[in-house]
Amino acid sequence: MSKIAVIGTGYVGLTTSIGLASLGHQVVGYDVDPAKVEVLQAGKLPIHEPGLGEILGDVLKSGNLKTTSVLSEAVTDADFIFTCVPTPQDEDGSADLSYVISASTAMKDFLKAGAVVVTKSTVPVGSAQIVEDAIGRSDVEVASNPEFLREGAAVYDFQNPDRIVVGARSNEVAQSVMDLYSKIDCPKVLTSQATAELIKYASNSFLAIKLSYVNDIAALCEAVGADSHEVLHGMGLDTRIGNRFLEPGPGWGGSCFPKDTKALESIANSFGIELPLITTAIASNEAAHKRVADRVMNSLGGSLVGKTIAVFGLTFKANTDDTRESPSIAVIERLIGRGGKVVAFDPMVSDYKLAGLTVAASPAEAASGADALVVLTEWAEFKSIDAKEILAAMSGNVVVDTRKVLDQSVWTEAGANFPTNPTTKAV
Ligand code: UGA
Repeated sequence: MSKIAVIGTGYVGLTTSIGLASLGHQVVGYDVDPAKVEVLQAGKLPIHEPGLGEILGDVLKSGNLKTTSVLSEAVTDADFIFTCVPTPQDEDGSADLSYVISASTAMKDFLKAGAVVVTKSTVPVGSAQIVEDAIGRSDVEVASNPEFLREGAAVYDFQNPDRIVVGARSNEVAQSVMDLYSKIDCPKVLTSQATAELIKYASNSFLAIKLSYVNDIAALCEAVGADSHEVLHGMGLDTRIGNRFLEPGPGWGGSCFPKDTKALESIANSFGIELPLITTAIASNEAAHKRVADRVMNSLGGSLVGKTIAVFGLTFKANTDDTRESPSIAVIERLIGRGGKVVAFDPMVSDYKLAGLTVAASPAEAASGADALVVLTEWAEFKSIDAKEILAAMSGNVVVDTRKVLDQSVWTEAGANFPTNPTTKAV
């Protein structure tokens, strides 16, 4: 079992440190903020991630996970140091590496000879060299081990990954990092640093392109009167296409796809390469947000001025409390921008600062007096909401369900009007 330090207790850092500790390693999680460290040490998770809290309790109890806000304590003894710091988006769309660089610089003098610094954060091609330069030690190795976890399914994804990718200058170093995952049975890819870095961006961007295509096809289905669920299911039966990641929605979002598609575009452009499919997928995603706002506006007589719209769902998908780059917020901004007032309910969000948006404490409170209801996140609990109670609370009856989470026949029977695209005719 190895001694590991994990730098950063954000979403990636937490799942990495808890996951590696659960595999039996001695892990020290470091965060610059002592308050965050205390919360963790008390066995509390600062994020909502199903199943992760239980494992946190186990690894604290077994002593495999310790936490600290003193960097030297975390890294001095560590054989492997995982950097899991944020790589936010710069104004030009490229990834901002300043946290990665400052973490590398801060730890360099504490590292023992032979230590391997492993980058988990999603970083542009060439970042390993930047980390090597920031550390500036020939006796320390740098590897890339991109994470492929989905928020809301991180525990499952950690334990059952489709693959693990490690890139390093030598196969030996890459293998030493891969050995940390010896208890996990899955395809394992040992490669160069640049290849590992690119596998992550290429995967996320491919999935974003797939979803943009899915949303465009779903819009076409509605326009021609075809059933999008059946069309996409029929398409996914072709194993070359695959049946996952085929759910249409109000657009894709989250802390990864929007940032990573723009970063990949920016990386490619810096090498003089154009990636028109990615550029189009980003534009198609914005069109998906606009389509939802259009649908609501057209169903309410062509104007949102003076209208109140109830929204179910603020997070970028279900089973997370994360609203970063949420398509729900993008749609709400458009509704408000067109003169509407929005009252939203989300099981995990009790406050969100946006002029024109109020967050309600219950679905019925959000629906009260609303002209239309829009469902933007696929929370399972929305399925059991009482249609009659919600429609009775509303002043109108328009319901736009972008995630197909409500039982349309039950809601229609209760008086809901699910508008189809009012600008097109069925054929
Ligand atoms: C994504 C990738 O799926 C992970 O493999 C990757 O590790 C992660 O980014 C990352 O780079 O850290 P995540 O952002 O947690 O994971 O969310 P996804 O489950 O991929 O969903 C992204 C967006 O696509 C959400 O807005 C979701 O609602 C939407 N989506 C997903 C759909 O609209 N339909 C689908 O069928 C699937």
